[in-house]
Amino acid sequence: MKGMSFFRTIQAKLIIIYVLLILIAMQLIGVYFVSSMKNSLTDNFTKDLKARAEMLSILTADKFGSEAGGADEDSSVDSLRGMVNNLYISGAEIQVLDASGKIITTSVPSQTDYVGQRNTQTVVSRALQGIGDNEEYITGDDNVRKKVVAKPVWLGGKVVGAIYIAADMKDLYATISRINSVFISGMLIALTLTAVLGVILAHTITQPIKEMTRHATAVAEGSFDRKMPIFGSDEIGQLSKAFNYMTGRLRDALSQNEEEKEKLASILTNMSDGVVATDETGRVILMNRRASLMLGCSEKSLPAGLRLEGLLGLAPDQTMALEGGMAQSTMLRLGEEEEENPNIVRVTFTPIHRREGGTAGTIAVLQDVTEQENLEASRREFVANVSHELRTPLTTIKSYAEALDDGALEDPQLAGRFVGVIRSETERMIRLVTDLLHLSRFDSREAQLRYQETDIAEMLEDVADRFSFQIRQKRISISTVVRRGVTTAWLDRDQIDQVLGNLVSNALKYTPEGGRIELEAGKSEFGMLEVSVQDSGIGIPKKDIERIFERFYRVDKARSRNMGGTGLGLSIAREIVKAHGGAIWLQSELNQGSKVTFTLPLNTQRGERA
Ligand SMILES: Nc1ncnc2c1ncn2[C@@H]1O[C@H](COP(=O)(O)OP(=O)(O)OP(=O)(O)O)[C@@H](O)[C@H]1O
Ligand SMILES: [Mg+2]
Repeated sequence: MKGMSFFRTIQAKLIIIYVLLILIAMQLIGVYFVSSMKNSLTDNFTKDLKARAEMLSILTADKFGSEAGGADEDSSVDSLRGMVNNLYISGAEIQVLDASGKIITTSVPSQTDYVGQRNTQTVVSRALQGIGDNEEYITGDDNVRKKVVAKPVWLGGKVVGAIYIAADMKDLYATISRINSVFISGMLIALTLTAVLGVILAHTITQPIKEMTRHATAVAEGSFDRKMPIFGSDEIGQLSKAFNYMTGRLRDALSQNEEEKEKLASILTNMSDGVVATDETGRVILMNRRASLMLGCSEKSLPAGLRLEGLLGLAPDQTMALEGGMAQSTMLRLGEEEEENPNIVRVTFTPIHRREGGTAGTIAVLQDVTEQENLEASRREFVANVSHELRTPLTTIKSYAEALDDGALEDPQLAGRFVGVIRSETERMIRLVTDLLHLSRFDSREAQLRYQETDIAEMLEDVADRFSFQIRQKRISISTVVRRGVTTAWLDRDQIDQVLGNLVSNALKYTPEGGRIELEAGKSEFGMLEVSVQDSGIGIPKKDIERIFERFYRVDKARSRNMGGTGLGLSIAREIVKAHGGAIWLQSELNQGSKVTFTLPLNTQRGERA
């Protein structure tokens, strides 16, 4: 805009147009005016000449009567000369000619030599022939245009001579050229004034336009603060007002837009689901933070033109189904192939529809459903386990009941044994169902802990006492140790009794005769109550230790079941310890023994949970 040449500006155009208009108008007026003035001046000049010639012809007519060569003739020539001289016309030559065209007298003294000679000009001969109106232009010796008129002199119905006037037109031309020069100087003044006015006028128009251009540029560059000055209430003033209004609206619209964008961006960034958007060709154009985390790559590190299926690693048939609208979502396993717990992600595709039809791209929403899927899987496994655990005793009961029905009832000894088996299987089932109920209460967080201040040493002794019969039977030695600094703790006595019971019963179950069991309580390095149950039993293989707290998990299913185990003891213990705000873990060495340790917060007061 800066480099625009002057001749391209509106200012220049306006000035040029104005000047041209004035020039053309003046020219037209000038041509018409000057030519008509010239005509009228020459007409007047000619008319005047003719009138004078006419007058002279009438005045001189009677002088032509006298005979030639007499004294009369001389006196009439004199009087003719006097008349001619009286009729003096500046710059004009007047000749009086006789019927043969000879010059009788002339008004120009220098021309007296020509007296007596014939004037042979056409106008003269025409006048002598009796034609009244004769005129023509001649150019004299001094190169001056002259107007020539000739009039016949009538006497008694005959042409007796002629009057000839040749008038110099110098003055007339001088007048015309003076008028011309007045006209030209007027025109020049008018042009100058027009140019000046043009500049001023153009300035009043172009100044606001320039100002507006500056503002428009500023607005385009994003500065909305300045207001356009309003130069008046004319069209330009209205334009300025409209411009200011537009700037305001634009600023509002832009800031609204910006706000919306920011909102959208922050929603996208803080969404718990991943979002990937593509354009209509399927290329990835946007990816939020969560999606980057899930897919393990950032938007910036993506290769240019990467397609969605490439990013998600979809198979071609999957892509076809999703793009064709046959399927809406699909499950993806993210992470390395060999990884044990890959992330499971549900990808939902939504096409972005254009208002005018067709799709502008696709939005893929990635939801991490790993936890859900794992829960679902463990629920399925749990149901299968429960069914399996219940089926075994039920089958046993059924077969024994059938045996009784088939005649075993007749044999009281056999019947007694069979009823005993049925009772023990039923008890097993009751235990199982009780355990399950217990667990489910913890799962649904319905289990309320009833805290009470408990003497630790007494509690451990109590447990040992509870199992004293079996301990003695298996000839196992048991010891309880409570280290210094631990006396009482706030806990749900019944629940912790169950934990200890489960642990001691395991220790008893999996320790051969003559073994040892140690119950120990102390303070952990984190200031927690730490209780451990150690045995010198068969131990647990390394690979099973990790899963030992899972429901129904048993190292040797058959043997455990024979011992009446359901595989729920440790998981119940874990739930109870967790509810108290503690932790439980197991250390074991195969064929050497196992040690289960759990911690409980020491400073928990009645009714409050850690
Ligand atoms: N002290 C231990 N020594 C060796 N193995 C053990 C010990 N404690 C637990 N286990 C192993 O862990 C498994 C799970 O124990 P858990 O107490 O949960 O179930 P269970 O004893 O079989 O049945 P339940 O306790 O419900 O009667 C057992 O089957 C056993 O294989
Ligand atoms: Mg057990």
